[in-house]
Amino acid sequence: MKMHLVSQQLSGLAAELLAVAVVDDQTSKDKNAKPLPVLLTADPAIQAAAASVLSSGEFKAAANETLLLHAPAGLAASRLLLVGLGKRSRVTPHTLRNAAGTAVRFCKPRSLHSLAFALPAGLEGLDDAAVARAATEGALLADFDPDTYRSDRKDQSLTDCTLVASAEALAAAQAGIEEGIHFAEAQNFTRVLVNDPPNVLTPTVLGQRAAEMAKDAGLKWEVYSTEKLQELKMGAFWSVAKGSEEPPALIVLTYEPEGYNPATYNGPVLGLVGKGITFDTGGISIKPADGMEKMKYDMAGAAAMLGAMHVIARIKPAVKVICVVCSAENMPDGKAYKPGDIAISMPDGDKPGKSIEIINTDAEGRLVLADGLTYARQLGCTHLIDAATLTGACVVALGMVHAGAFSNDDPTFTRFQAAAEKTGEKFWRLPLGDEYFDLIRSDIADIKNTGGRWGGAVTAAEFLKVFVAETPWIHLDIAGMAWIEDSRSSIAKGPSGVAVRTIAEWVRSFAS
Ligand code: BES
Ligand code: MN
Ligand code: ZN
Repeated sequence: MKMHLVSQQLSGLAAELLAVAVVDDQTSKDKNAKPLPVLLTADPAIQAAAASVLSSGEFKAAANETLLLHAPAGLAASRLLLVGLGKRSRVTPHTLRNAAGTAVRFCKPRSLHSLAFALPAGLEGLDDAAVARAATEGALLADFDPDTYRSDRKDQSLTDCTLVASAEALAAAQAGIEEGIHFAEAQNFTRVLVNDPPNVLTPTVLGQRAAEMAKDAGLKWEVYSTEKLQELKMGAFWSVAKGSEEPPALIVLTYEPEGYNPATYNGPVLGLVGKGITFDTGGISIKPADGMEKMKYDMAGAAAMLGAMHVIARIKPAVKVICVVCSAENMPDGKAYKPGDIAISMPDGDKPGKSIEIINTDAEGRLVLADGLTYARQLGCTHLIDAATLTGACVVALGMVHAGAFSNDDPTFTRFQAAAEKTGEKFWRLPLGDEYFDLIRSDIADIKNTGGRWGGAVTAAEFLKVFVAETPWIHLDIAGMAWIEDSRSSIAKGPSGVAVRTIAEWVRSFAS
């Protein structure tokens, strides 16, 4: 789908469908009269076309509520779609992102291939660039369906989306659209990776996709496999990888800001570490058959980091970023690791690796990340963030509304929260603490890889914390958020691409 920007009289715009936002406005002076929803355009022909239905009270302008008018009199467009934004005082870029998405997904099943969306002006606290960016993101994210492997759905994608701005807003809107394209296209790149089946998207193929993206985007890249894991003595990562016929992939992408000089650069080096289990059977501690097919999305953390690198390559913040992806298949096999095994993680400089008692081979994500986090520090990272579909316990705790977030450093977390505020993605901070660490002490090794039934998301985070040492760090457990179970008005069910935009905004915040 191509995004366009025009400035013209809305009623004169020829389009298959013209979408206009409507708010539930409670600022009406008359306390007795039930305030009618307010159309966010001053165009008299559109006001006239919508007047009757708005005064009927049938349309409440609730968020994402839609109402279609066919062949509206006085309009060049063949259809007028009213899209609700909810209460005026509560409209945020997030509301607008969803509204634009709702308009796009209204078109798709009706085989309408182009739409125009009127960018609303005069919303308090929302500048023209933010409005255009949100609408662009919403439209592009909504146009995505996980239909790569479906032969019956090829006719549903939109070809064009035209945003309509006022003449004064044009320059700001253009900048907002460009930014929206960078963020949304990267998120959709992540969603394609997450949707790809495990027989197609093996660790090797994930490495190839990362390399292709890096090459196109102008990032440095290295993709290693078994030999490098041996050389670096990544015993935790290798424990998981050795049970599969598919070789592992250790993917390293590097973004260097313009004019980067290793001798003089003294800014932060941000490390983005992703869990890339392309299929998680559970290994010898095998998972039940029911729902196991979903475990293809156990590489969503890795895909999110690759998506974030995609954004970073395009928005070019003045900060160095290194992405480390640890990818493997977790399989039961004659060579697979077993409960009772002891794995030795990668050495940390001159300190030897940690001994890890394997209790459950299904707690594999923390093992690959242990070596990934250590390696990122060895590469010089001063701040770390990891993303992983790490625990079912996090889904039990937060459901499919918030992703779990953990941090050992308040300022770093505050910065992350500000980034999430900007993108509208929901994260909820969960605690860390010595009492939780006590649950992963082992009788025969330094630590064990599970901490029992209770507080499973936290004990997993405590396990990772061992490998970040003193480095400021954020851990995102996206197990419940990486896959959308039911379609919404503005987004398809399937891979969500969660965390891509927030991680990229977090990175950008270090540049200013
Ligand atoms: N990949 C799973 C976690 C997961 C669960 C992701 C549900 C997405 C949806 C992870 O590797 C896992 O199996 N975790 C175990 C840990 C346990 C054995 C300590 C879990 O959560 O059950
Ligand atoms: Mn597992
Ligand atoms: Zn897993």
